[in-house]
Amino acid sequence: MDKNIIKLTKEAITPALVVHANIAVKKASGIYLDDIDGNRYMDFTSGLATTNTGHNHPAVVEAIRDQAGDLIHSGCMFYHKRLAELAQMLKKIMPPGLDMFFFSNSGAEAIEGALKLARFYTGRQGIIAFTGGFHGRTFGAATLTTSSIRYRKRYHPMLPSVYHSPYPYCYRCWFGQKSETCSLECFEYLERLFRHQIPPDEVACIVIEPVLGEGGYVVPPRIFLERLRGLCNKWGILLVFDEVQSGMGRTGKWFACGHFGITPDIMTVAKGIASGMPLSAVISQKKIMLEWPPGAHGTTFGGNPVSCAAAIATISVMEKEGMLENAARAGGAAIKRLKAMQVDRPAMGDVRGLGLMIGIELVKEGKEPDTEGLKNIISYCLDKGLLLLECGADKNIIRLAPPLIITGDEMNRGLDILEEAIGKTR
Ligand SMILES: Cc1ncc(COP(=O)(O)O)c(C=O)c1O
Repeated sequence: MDKNIIKLTKEAITPALVVHANIAVKKASGIYLDDIDGNRYMDFTSGLATTNTGHNHPAVVEAIRDQAGDLIHSGCMFYHKRLAELAQMLKKIMPPGLDMFFFSNSGAEAIEGALKLARFYTGRQGIIAFTGGFHGRTFGAATLTTSSIRYRKRYHPMLPSVYHSPYPYCYRCWFGQKSETCSLECFEYLERLFRHQIPPDEVACIVIEPVLGEGGYVVPPRIFLERLRGLCNKWGILLVFDEVQSGMGRTGKWFACGHFGITPDIMTVAKGIASGMPLSAVISQKKIMLEWPPGAHGTTFGGNPVSCAAAIATISVMEKEGMLENAARAGGAAIKRLKAMQVDRPAMGDVRGLGLMIGIELVKEGKEPDTEGLKNIISYCLDKGLLLLECGADKNIIRLAPPLIITGDEMNRGLDILEEAIGKTR
């Protein structure tokens, strides 16, 4: 069986599901993956930005084992202590005012919940999202998603009354501006939607990733998010931050919105919340959540006791081991080294990020996205034992998202391989 895992999987599972690395993993621990042939890899993807505490953190494994022995499932038929315990813990790390929860299983499900809550609460229909954003694969979430056309192709018609405005992606400004000349034309574009496409008093919510994930690991200018907050306040529009990828310590703070000092009305969290167990959350103010009546939303598996136990252990171990501080420290050092590498490597068009959410944009002359070059780099790195993942519409951006427990030595070993790969393949 072991020898045939990849072949048997490919025969059984639809090719629609992309498995990024052609390796079969037997065991994982911390930042390391061991495959069935005895090869070891450093996972600089955290299993798609999810195992923030490292793979199989012993405290998380123990919490899962203990909870599975007591109660695996509740299915919303009865109460169990883990749900209440987790909500209490999350409240302490949330931005002030975000104090009521709906737990589900995946990022896309949390987005669906946020959209339904926003429409229900405001009684309005319109939804605004940003070009380049990724919010998931279910129909509502996929309608908001524009990070690549392949997520939308042949799925139209999608959810009605969804409008898109350009994400403030300064390296590839839609309006050809540079930082010296920028007058936030992307924000003006958004405001123009109100004059030409949907009046602001018919907009339920504006949904944005406070750091763009799948679309390219882009950090927006603070002023853009501040203006967005102001606009939402002015028109009674709910501001939704999708922190599915940027949350749970990934950027060196519990949530990326903490870097900008802006609190959304609704937040979605998933991926890192339970170290790889399926769990997500829609979080909002009590005032808003209490207007959502019984039965307006629901779930069978959401808030599963085992996933909740894993999330409780995740938060407590992140605090105990200072993982946020480590993410900020290791990420800062990595960006410094990458920026130094960039000086005599024009192929590294842009290096950007917050904490351990770092993007390196690979380009040819004239900033043309270098998709092929990136493919070669990722393949070279995998051969040398470093697992990397790309992002961006043109798949020309390397995302560095290792577990938040990574040491300085491990980071440097990974970057040594990456440096060698760029040198050899470019
Ligand atoms: C920002 C963001 N939102 C939503 C999702 C969807 O999450 P899931 O794949 O768990 O449905 C993702 C997944 O990558 C994401 O990065």
